Amino acid sequence: MEVPPIITCHVLAVPYPARGHINALMNLCKLLIAKNKEILVTYVVTEEWAGFIGSEPRPANIRLATIPNVIASELTRSADHLGFMEDVMTKMEAPLEQLLDRLEPPPTIIVYDTFLFWVVGVGNRRSIPVASFWTMAASVFSVLHHHHLLEQKGHYPVNLSEMGEYRVNYIPGVSPTRLADLPLNDGSKRTHRIMELSKKGIECVSKAQYILLSSMYELEPEAIDVLKAKLSLPIYNVGPTIPHYNLGQHKTTINTNHSYLNWLDHQPNNSVLYISQGSFFSVSSAQIEEIAFGLRESGVRFLWIARQEASRLKEICGGDKGLVLGWCDQWKVLNHPAIGGFWTHCGWNSTKEGVFGGVPFLTLPIIMDQGLDSKMIVEDWKVGWRVKEDVRIDSLVRKDEIVKLLNKFMDLENDQVRDMRKRVKEYQHSCQREIAHGRSFQDINSFVREITKIVMK
Ligand SMILES: *[C@@H]1O[C@H](CO)[C@@H](O)[C@H](O)[C@H]1NC(C)=O
Ligand SMILES: *[C@@H]1O[C@H](CO)[C@@H](O)[C@H](O)[C@H]1NC(C)=O
Ligand SMILES: *[C@@H]1O[C@H](CO)[C@@H](O)[C@H](O)[C@H]1NC(C)=O
Ligand SMILES: *[C@@H]1O[C@H](CO)[C@@H](O)[C@H](O)[C@H]1NC(C)=O
Repeated sequence: MEVPPIITCHVLAVPYPARGHINALMNLCKLLIAKNKEILVTYVVTEEWAGFIGSEPRPANIRLATIPNVIASELTRSADHLGFMEDVMTKMEAPLEQLLDRLEPPPTIIVYDTFLFWVVGVGNRRSIPVASFWTMAASVFSVLHHHHLLEQKGHYPVNLSEMGEYRVNYIPGVSPTRLADLPLNDGSKRTHRIMELSKKGIECVSKAQYILLSSMYELEPEAIDVLKAKLSLPIYNVGPTIPHYNLGQHKTTINTNHSYLNWLDHQPNNSVLYISQGSFFSVSSAQIEEIAFGLRESGVRFLWIARQEASRLKEICGGDKGLVLGWCDQWKVLNHPAIGGFWTHCGWNSTKEGVFGGVPFLTLPIIMDQGLDSKMIVEDWKVGWRVKEDVRIDSLVRKDEIVKLLNKFMDLENDQVRDMRKRVKEYQHSCQREIAHGRSFQDINSFVREITKIVMK
């Protein structure tokens, strides 16, 4: 592979082996290279992921290095998410060490996903500086960093049916939040263990040299200020790490002639609801069915991304008002003028893409950080509504409620909706300014200056 003749900095990038994490860190690496062509990135993925992303276009100075798969097929990990996470924490370290033993040139810095706490030890032992890259909201970082407060007050874990509505107001940088919206607070053994592992990632950050946040100051000023004040290592808020720099190519690139984009071209502005519940965790099939029948009855135009259930949903929804697909280019879709709303599970990546697309939200979070992202959308930024108000985990939102919600949400004449649209456009513009020349722009430049100063051995 062709590598630039002058290398002043060699970044070893170690993502958590899951799609959202891999994309986010890859986008960060592309951004670093766009800033300085003398940076070389070695991007470490398992063999299975190398197969998935190997053919995707990337700059010559990002090269892939592979380590053995953590489990036979990482795509099936949703069946046993916790087991997969445990394997990631124990089986990746030795092969990474072996890779480091033979890597030429040796890396000058390691940028790793905060969840992979053991990478900090690897870097420390070899005297290689490490930067911890946090792929979720800064507010979620603050919740995990201050988690002992929740435990002291008996607010973790809780029975959400009884306590879900209760609001905590003592997490620094986070506005009052229902217990139901906090991460992994359902009281089950499984989520408790996931919380333990997540907190370990946060604790180990103190032994790293830098923290990189993938957020926007415009979205979470208090949380970012709190972290910058409380943690004793430099924090760079490197921006959304979504492919915003690719925007504007839709009309000029020929190979993006997807039939769904053509379909969208023929729909009125702001008339289509884009629905994606994420690729990994899913809501119950009973709930999906209520949504599908509600969608049909509402008569709202839609583009629905659904993996396994696509054909059944097509049957229920009929073909005249919308499309059900297994995949789409979400970023292009969200930026299409026909899209008038985004029904989302509130993964942080999707949350940021929705804000940058300037589209109001309907939120249906499932697990992890999604509840807190939903709360920020609905209560802090006021750019969306919850699909489900009930805090009980297993309660269903019925078809009739969904019809009412959809008809109101997609009504461009409704005053509440008009205000919400206006606000999300304001956030869109302030976030765009932030990456064009504001705080994120400055932070990423400072980080690039900092890492290119490190002397190569
Ligand atoms: C964000 O999530 C969507 C939907 O899961 C996916 O299509 C897209 O590739 C993701 N983008 C990034 C930058 O991870
Ligand atoms: C949670 O609270 C509800 C309502 O009081 C109760 O029915 C349920 O059994 C409780 N769940 C657990 C696991 O204790
Ligand atoms: C794009 O695809 C549609 C059918 O899917 C076709 O009719 C059209 O000619 C294509 N346009 C270009 C520019 O290739
Ligand atoms: C639809 O939106 C596009 C892009 O914002 C704009 O150029 C066009 O004029 C709009 N069409 C109508 C009918 O308002």
